[in-house]
Amino acid sequence: MHLTLRQLSLFESVARHRSFTRAAAELHLSQPAVSMQVRQLEESAGLPLFEKIGRRIQLTEAGREMYDYARRIGQSLQELDEVMAALKGVQRGHLRLSVATTANSFATRILAAFSQRYRGTTYSLDVTNRKTLLDQLSGNETDIVIMGKPPEDANLEVRPFMENPLVVVAHPDHRLVHVPSPVPLQALQEEVFVVRERESGTRIAMERFFNERGMHLKTGIETTSNSAIKHAVEAGLGLGIVSIHTLDLELEVGALVVLDVEGFPILRHWHLAHCKGKRLPPIAQAFQEFLTGEEGRHLLSHSVPVSRGPG
Ligand code: PGA
Repeated sequence: MHLTLRQLSLFESVARHRSFTRAAAELHLSQPAVSMQVRQLEESAGLPLFEKIGRRIQLTEAGREMYDYARRIGQSLQELDEVMAALKGVQRGHLRLSVATTANSFATRILAAFSQRYRGTTYSLDVTNRKTLLDQLSGNETDIVIMGKPPEDANLEVRPFMENPLVVVAHPDHRLVHVPSPVPLQALQEEVFVVRERESGTRIAMERFFNERGMHLKTGIETTSNSAIKHAVEAGLGLGIVSIHTLDLELEVGALVVLDVEGFPILRHWHLAHCKGKRLPPIAQAFQEFLTGEEGRHLLSHSVPVSRGPG
């Protein structure tokens, strides 16, 4: 059957109005032009689509089927239009993404996959701590951020998307590696910890955890870098508490071990956040959907190393 989208759309209008005259008026065409197109459609179908009952026209059985398909095709075309318009917005888009220092390892991987999908897009990626992320959001200096759970009163639209377990890491020769599992929590009070800066979400979560248990940890080196914590722990300068997402080859090659400590891991979650009421640019919306959708979940499921406790 040879038909054109134009014939279908003229037919849809005539069928909806049950009138050639009103369809012609709606489409700003002459009535003979509309009749001719509909006649050609009937010829391709090989069946009459309308019949005249009294002074009014009605759809035949074939006409009702044709009308049903014409409407569905019309809706699909409209959706296609909307999708293309949205994609044009994404394709030319610039995404301002800010992520917590700790989220950097998987965020760059997601961004790489996303930019493959939407070529021609550009990005600015800021990697910083929790406090700065919250400042950026309130100053509208970023479109969207990846961070630990933001405070309730921050007026943000928030979507959790992945667990963020914090674990205790030690040098493989550390004395606690050799005590029977699980290591009692109190044993940590004898140790020195290499910690993140005070504005870091990891540091805040870790301090809350110990405060709630009436404990106070001895802190040694304080640093803004998760890599620096790992290097310091590898160098025997103390224990570290880091997100499992910061660990990678260190576990594989045995440079660090994750201690099985009572009450650990401290379970946190990663969130996508943007200002409430902010109209997200199409690229930021697309990024949000990508990260929380099938593809993002698949990529993220490969970003958590298998943690190995002692022994
Ligand atoms: P951060 O991580 O420690 O790198 O600031 C953010 C968070 O866990 O909230």
